[in-house]
Amino acid sequence: MNKDTPIDFKTVEGKIKETGLEKVGRGTIREIVKLVNDIETATGKKYIRMEMGVPGLEPPSVGIEAEIDALRRGLASKYPMIEGVASLKEEASRFVKMFLNIDVSPRGCLSTVGSLQGSFAAFITAGRRDEKKDTALLIDPCFPVHKQQLKVLGQKFEAFDVYNYRGDKLYEKLESYLKKGNINCILYSNPNNPSWICFTEKELNIIGELANKYDVVVLEDLAYFCMDFRKDLSKPGEPPYQSTVANYTGNYILFISSSKSFSYAGQRSGLMIISDELYQRRFPDLKRYYSSDILGYAMVYGTLYALSAGTSHSPQYGLAAMLKAANDGEYNFVEDVREYGERAAIMKKMFTDNGFQIVYDKDEDKPLADGFYFTISYPAFEGVDLLERLLYYGISAISLDITGSERTEGLRACVSQISRSQFPDLEYRLKKFNEHHPVS
Ligand SMILES: Cc1ncc(COP(=O)(O)O)c(C=O)c1O
Repeated sequence: MNKDTPIDFKTVEGKIKETGLEKVGRGTIREIVKLVNDIETATGKKYIRMEMGVPGLEPPSVGIEAEIDALRRGLASKYPMIEGVASLKEEASRFVKMFLNIDVSPRGCLSTVGSLQGSFAAFITAGRRDEKKDTALLIDPCFPVHKQQLKVLGQKFEAFDVYNYRGDKLYEKLESYLKKGNINCILYSNPNNPSWICFTEKELNIIGELANKYDVVVLEDLAYFCMDFRKDLSKPGEPPYQSTVANYTGNYILFISSSKSFSYAGQRSGLMIISDELYQRRFPDLKRYYSSDILGYAMVYGTLYALSAGTSHSPQYGLAAMLKAANDGEYNFVEDVREYGERAAIMKKMFTDNGFQIVYDKDEDKPLADGFYFTISYPAFEGVDLLERLLYYGISAISLDITGSERTEGLRACVSQISRSQFPDLEYRLKKFNEHHPVS
């Protein structure tokens, strides 16, 4: 192995050893973050940090001002309602009409502590609605925390990598799980973390149709809301809209995160949107855990109450103000985050010009969108080894291995923390890597 690497070889080697990990490339996101922090401190060199999906943009002032105002009005001393404050529920209902073109009454628009609390609550409630349906189905690759949620809940789950089951092939694959009769929900993110695939209308139709046929709740995680930049999704009330399974089934719960689309991750303010149809459905088995067999009621006064008795008061006003500004056409949140797509296009080209390949590269026959993440591989490398080797070149990412992907040769790269001023460094380091690892 060539030791003339952009970051001092011996220091990187030493820091990797210090982690005590058998295979550093299999480390979790937070383990890689810690390791790279340590190397940066020891060498004084800045990495191209692509391991963690944190927003790299400023939060909108309209949200901050509304929060400050709420605090000044003395809300810190008051318990918020569990289901969320009225103005947030109303703006959320408008927001899904404006940007998804779906009708959901404010009652089903619930405030959650980040969208992650939403998925946690939904796993709990959906998993208790029918005694026979004790298993969740996750479409991989996925955000590893969702599996972690099911593990800590002690709930069963199955998962499959969708890579080989795009388009029509998805029908048979999904049905092979659903027909066993034990699946209570299907969860996926769209756009997808880590691969940035976006399901096509055909695929969403298949998911919705099968959810109806087998009475399964679709948990659609829209953490990267309106961030498929191939279309202009930024105009409230005008097509095209963010794609959603809600067009094909009434059996849905959506999670809308403010973390990425509104650069508001720190305030942990998300939304769970339960369809009107599902909200009022009765499931007698819920009575084993809740005072009511109505799903929406059990969700709010059973699960969300038990988890945190609602969400912090002031961030709800912050989110409500941002949604209102977006709904009224006064704040174009999509324009703000379009920067991620532009960065991705430039960075992907730098990688492919230097011998790398894009792993998940198509939505059926269409080239993938440029967005928050992309996936890469390098000839003759397994992902975990590639990650470790790239650390010597001042580049960090995470292995697809930890996301349930079968494409174990791949890495996930996140563009959010890379500023354009780092592009020359990235290019130089990739050139060096390519020079040291010639592709035959
Ligand atoms: C797919 C997916 N879902 C959920 C989340 C977390 O969202 P929130 O910050 O709203 O809890 C993330 C964050 O990275 C994500 O990638």
